[in-house]
Amino acid sequence: MFGGCVIEDVVEEVREFDHFDPAVAGRIHQLTAALREHRPVARSERHGGFHVLTGWAEIDEVAKDDDRFSSAVEGLGATMVLPGVERVNAPLFETDRPQHTVWRRAMQPFFTPQAAAAHEPYIREVTRGVLAPLRPRGSADLVAEFANRVPLLVTAALLGVERDRREEFGDLARATFGATSAEQARRAGERFAAFLAEQIAARRGAPARDVLTAVVNTEVDGRRASDAELLKHAFLMVAAGHLTTTDTIANTALTLATDARLRQRVTADRSLIPALVEESVRHESAVAATGRTTREDTEVGGVRLTAGERLLLLWGSANRDTTRFPDGDRFRLDRGRAPHLGWGAGAHRCLGMHLARTQLRVVFDELLDAIPGFTVPPGFTPTRTFGVIRGVVSLPVRWPVEG
Ligand code: HEM
Repeated sequence: MFGGCVIEDVVEEVREFDHFDPAVAGRIHQLTAALREHRPVARSERHGGFHVLTGWAEIDEVAKDDDRFSSAVEGLGATMVLPGVERVNAPLFETDRPQHTVWRRAMQPFFTPQAAAAHEPYIREVTRGVLAPLRPRGSADLVAEFANRVPLLVTAALLGVERDRREEFGDLARATFGATSAEQARRAGERFAAFLAEQIAARRGAPARDVLTAVVNTEVDGRRASDAELLKHAFLMVAAGHLTTTDTIANTALTLATDARLRQRVTADRSLIPALVEESVRHESAVAATGRTTREDTEVGGVRLTAGERLLLLWGSANRDTTRFPDGDRFRLDRGRAPHLGWGAGAHRCLGMHLARTQLRVVFDELLDAIPGFTVPPGFTPTRTFGVIRGVVSLPVRWPVEG
């Protein structure tokens, strides 16, 4: 119904909009293009009712105004409920000023460009390790066997997980985030929570060598975070570090696998990788949607909102807004410093941006060295995901093997 549609159709359909509905994933760009044109702030009745924001200007305004819009109230999409953990707010992610500023300062030293660069040798080592057994095979699923592996090891290193326990950390995280039933998710989540709780306990009172130790020992308003708050924070850190990067690798690899000219250009000139990655973050925006809650009666995009209403910011839609990107549906390497919102905006803008960029640059450098000719089978149609994160379910590729 959406796309070339009349306004009544748009308003009617958005009432049932559910970003977790798998049917939404495949046509999200058509849907959001229609919403941007007709209702950049629209109301859905799902999940207890919320507003869907699709316009660049409206999303930018909300993200940058934490006086009117809060991340601290549990909102749509920004949080996840964990087994055995009461509803608490995660340090940093689900806090507002002034507490947010304290958490962010405590974590900042671990996310500078220099800190990201210090991870580069490890990122290269683990990427080579993952690629080595794939290379002679001539085929692989680049989601399950590549994208879903490297960022977890890097996230484990960032959190300070011991080297010999990083594979275990990865297995537990994959089982938790990849669970296909609620029961599986509960059981895997409990095991992962136990692993993380052990890591947290070991860091109490320890000197801050890693970001998790810094968070465990930081005092905000005269107290340290509780076990439940820290556990939720650690889960969200894994989601923020792993799911986002994994899906960006998958989205970018899909683009390369289906565009031989682009792949050949980037293979021949690796200095294009940063532009490739940046355009991928804009074009498919792995962080698809996160939430905010209004603190007061206010107005956005001409729509009146009362205090306590929930908003869903569709970052990827902002990134294709034709008022900012006239040819936003096109994947272009030459956009330069396009003002996209793929890393967010305002106080909660991605803290891991430098680490993510370093990781993606190294990962694609190594991938293009190992299997430069990778392509998808003829007629391949990817199954896209949507929700909080956007990626592809699987990416079966083939490449020529010498000898
Ligand atoms: C390509 C990969 C990534 C993308 C597209 C991405 C995108 C984003 C976006 C859009 C936000 C803002 C969410 C909001 O305001 O509601 C965000 C926040 C955040 N990201 Fe990333 N991210 C990526 C990788 C990473 C990595 C590798 C880390 C490392 C752990 C990370 C850590 C964080 C943290 C800690 C926040 C919360 C910041 C705060 O609340 O102050 N991200 N990210």
